[in-house]
Amino acid sequence: MTIEATIVIGSGTMGRGIAQVAATAGLTTWVYDANSEQLSGAKAAVEKSLSKLVEKGKLPSETADAAKANFKLCASLDEPDWSKVGIVVEAIYENFDAKTALYKDVQSRLRPDAILASNTSSISITKLAAASDRPSKFIGMHFFNPVPLMSLVEVIRGIDTDDTTVETVESLAKQMGKNPLRCNDMPGFVSNRVLMPMINEAAFALMEGVAEAETIDEIMKQGCNFPMGPLTLADFIGVDVCLNILEVLHRDLGDPKFRPCPLLRKMVDAGHLGRKSARGFHKY
Ligand code: CAA
Repeated sequence: MTIEATIVIGSGTMGRGIAQVAATAGLTTWVYDANSEQLSGAKAAVEKSLSKLVEKGKLPSETADAAKANFKLCASLDEPDWSKVGIVVEAIYENFDAKTALYKDVQSRLRPDAILASNTSSISITKLAAASDRPSKFIGMHFFNPVPLMSLVEVIRGIDTDDTTVETVESLAKQMGKNPLRCNDMPGFVSNRVLMPMINEAAFALMEGVAEAETIDEIMKQGCNFPMGPLTLADFIGVDVCLNILEVLHRDLGDPKFRPCPLLRKMVDAGHLGRKSARGFHKY
């Protein structure tokens, strides 16, 4: 199935990034958000990002102009032309009830052959799929922040996802300039199952006084060649998001090795959430 149009639901950091790469790939792209303030911020952010990519020689200016023309904000789900939409990518906050309530609304409009994808980083694809009307056409399409710069899309297959859906999503990811890699549906998939214990351990090292935050980050940058240290990365992702993913890993895999560091909890309680609150492991 060739996909010509998409609706991205959620216009936060991830949703706007996904919409940008979809529009750049030539898809008519509607972005919907119930929060009108967040939605209006998405257009300016995408235009700024496209201009930056042009400035750096990473994108031809004609492609950026075409992307701007393909990109449409919608304040209501009545606005898009649903007959053209081959895939909806949901990128709202990590809450099972909120996501499944949204699917009910989407499904009543979505073509029966269209795919429903979630950008969830921690909720079971199989469980979300089972709450939808199309488990065989439900899939995880997990992008990485900042979406326009990161090449990977983790493609997560739920227990009932069919081969055509996996293949269609892989070819769509390639059209978006991304490298899709498949994995099965297990808590944290691959990326967060491996990344979050490292961030958690860095928080334990800080809490136990092994080194200062700056030193922990520099050791991992200079010693392991990471582009940013684990605590800087936690600030970038959001300390609350990291804690939430660790809680899912700990609960659903039942292994004490995923026990969230108490310092993460303390920081979330204090509102030290990282870059978005101007204070996390570092100050911004
Ligand atoms: N669009 C366009 N440009 C952008 C951008 C965007 N959305 N976001 C950042 N940039 C630009 C910045 O403005 C900056 O430009 P200047 O150099 O002109 O100031 C540049 O990108 C970033 O500067 P760097 O020197 O850091 O650039 P870099 O190219 O060397 O690396 C990076 C950038 C790829 C983001 C790198 O820092 C990196 O790999 N960081 C780690 C990111 C990461 O691990 N992300 C995954 C998080 S986990 C996740 O997302 C999933 C989950 O489930 C939690």
